[in-house]
Amino acid sequence: MIKEIKQIKTLEELQKLHSDTFGKNGTMTARLKDMKNLAGDARAALNAEASALRDAFRVAQDDLETVAMMAALETQKLDAAAPFDAPADFGAGRLHPLTMALSDLGAIFKHMGYGMRVGPEIEDDWHNFAALNVPLHHPARDMQDTFFVEGGNLLRTHTSAGQIRAMEKEGVPIKIFCPGATYRVDMDATHFPMFHQIEGLVIGSDITLSDLVKDLKTFLSLYFGLDDVPLRIRPSYFPFTEPSVEIDIKWDKKAGKLGQGGDWLEIVPGGMVHPNVLCNVEADPDKYQGFAFGLGLDRMAMLKYGLPDGRKFFEGDIRWIKANGV
Ligand code: DAH
Repeated sequence: MIKEIKQIKTLEELQKLHSDTFGKNGTMTARLKDMKNLAGDARAALNAEASALRDAFRVAQDDLETVAMMAALETQKLDAAAPFDAPADFGAGRLHPLTMALSDLGAIFKHMGYGMRVGPEIEDDWHNFAALNVPLHHPARDMQDTFFVEGGNLLRTHTSAGQIRAMEKEGVPIKIFCPGATYRVDMDATHFPMFHQIEGLVIGSDITLSDLVKDLKTFLSLYFGLDDVPLRIRPSYFPFTEPSVEIDIKWDKKAGKLGQGGDWLEIVPGGMVHPNVLCNVEADPDKYQGFAFGLGLDRMAMLKYGLPDGRKFFEGDIRWIKANGV
């Protein structure tokens, strides 16, 4: 019967055979009902047979569903330019809060002398991990549960890959920010499999950690409109920076207000770019040094616009965008 299952060409036929076999009056159902009359060996053989059949049905169903889906994708082409009758109250379009946040952040970084670079979302192991001093089997890879795609590539887990591409192409000194979508196998109330980051990178001959703090203060004060930006710096660990830090900003957790209050909010991870990373892009770590940091773009937008649920960003609900966009 397994051979027969494999030869079936449509889901309907498969369902029919399944119900003839495992349905209420199915042949296998009847035999399984009789199992109690069988001797031990025969019973085990029947169980094995039933389980092999179930597997065969499952595999055949998966295969046929895939074929049906591929056929549907071939015929159901989306025409994004097709005319559409907007309801009378549709109104003008709005910018998505993430678009606004990126445009504000980008303008500030450019004002501070950072150039914008964008890298690909499908990355290779070298740019996403190895060149960032995360060799194969390094436990730090576990912190970023990765979507792998065909050909050994992956969906970039962070925009830090952008610093490698930029330094490979342009060399050092360099002062850039790389915004974009990033992907991790993560899904719960506060995590989404896709989110956005902005990587910052400044390499020169006399750059220190205090330059990182100074730039972040300037940037946070401009973005959030704060006169005073009290920051706290804690040691941390990232394979691509040494030393690594977490930078917290003072905030009033209850009121959701930044720059005041008695709580601290972890806001930017960063550090001094590891000499191994500089060597990997053929920059001389005895001549050059600098800092890198990673900002969560979605988080920046949530904090600025007071949006508590980041999942709403990606639901595409026009009513939500109208209420929260400009
Ligand atoms: N790439 C890190 C992440 O996604 C964030 C990060 C940490 C970026 C430290 C940096 C850095 O440039 O120096 O978790």
